[in-house]
Amino acid sequence: MLNVQALSVHYGRVQAVREATLTVKRGEIVALLGANGAGKSTLLQAIVGLVRPSAGQMSWNDARLDTMPTHRVSRAGVALVPEGRQMLASLSVRDNLLLGAYHELSRSPTALMAPMHWVLTRPIVRERLANVNRLFPRLAERHSQMAGSLSGGEQQMLAIGRALMAAPSLLLLDEPSIGLAPNLVQEILALLVRLRDEGLTVLLVEQDAHAALRIAERGYVMETGRIVLEDQARALLASPSIRRAYLGGA
Ligand SMILES: Nc1ncnc2c1ncn2[C@@H]1O[C@H](COP(=O)(O)OP(=O)(O)O)[C@@H](O)[C@H]1O
Ligand SMILES: [Mg+2]
Repeated sequence: MLNVQALSVHYGRVQAVREATLTVKRGEIVALLGANGAGKSTLLQAIVGLVRPSAGQMSWNDARLDTMPTHRVSRAGVALVPEGRQMLASLSVRDNLLLGAYHELSRSPTALMAPMHWVLTRPIVRERLANVNRLFPRLAERHSQMAGSLSGGEQQMLAIGRALMAAPSLLLLDEPSIGLAPNLVQEILALLVRLRDEGLTVLLVEQDAHAALRIAERGYVMETGRIVLEDQARALLASPSIRRAYLGGA
């Protein structure tokens, strides 16, 4: 279980997350909703150690995350698909994927000096690449293409594929559907359901609250750094105040 307890994060004097408490059970998809600036990205970044909490505790299964360096968080099975995809546009699709297995590379000091394709000689990396190819046949056809020349949807697939190269047990996604056509949004959500069915646990930050709540078991709503609501996804979808605030309905 992901267990976030009374987490606070400050940027200087600005408090972006205020005593947020949230859990994601193994095998769940949980949606994290909220307006721009609510603190959702900061919360995800704190979980993977990219920003440090000023108070609170976090753990994934038996591993305490709040005191762990980021590269260890990835070894503990937690991966983030960051907002805006953040791939290396001038590297090939395959090299971007291999970067996702970086913590495998960093186990061997000689590997750090070697060309990136050295990592491909490792059976575990080849296995993961084959798994990503199975999940994203469209990426598999484009391995030598530069990442920057992919379509928006393909880039999002690549960002997810890269995170999967670390073989996570918990996947955090920060607005994966932003800027994508509705059919691609559906494709990505269907993929998340498939990954969940294959054993992955998912915490999903999503602008498209309706779409997220349709695949999630539970949801949380953040406002100005606080978790203000938690419920079953079905109940959130039916709630008039949620419909007004996040689902564009009355
Ligand atoms: N690197 C940063 N430095 C200073 N303030 C930041 C930084 N990142 C985010 N913030 C502030 O923290 C708050 C939460 O931002 P963020 O976590 O990005 O929210 P969300 O993802 O919900 O839109 C906002 O007020 C934002 O301006
Ligand atoms: Mg954000």
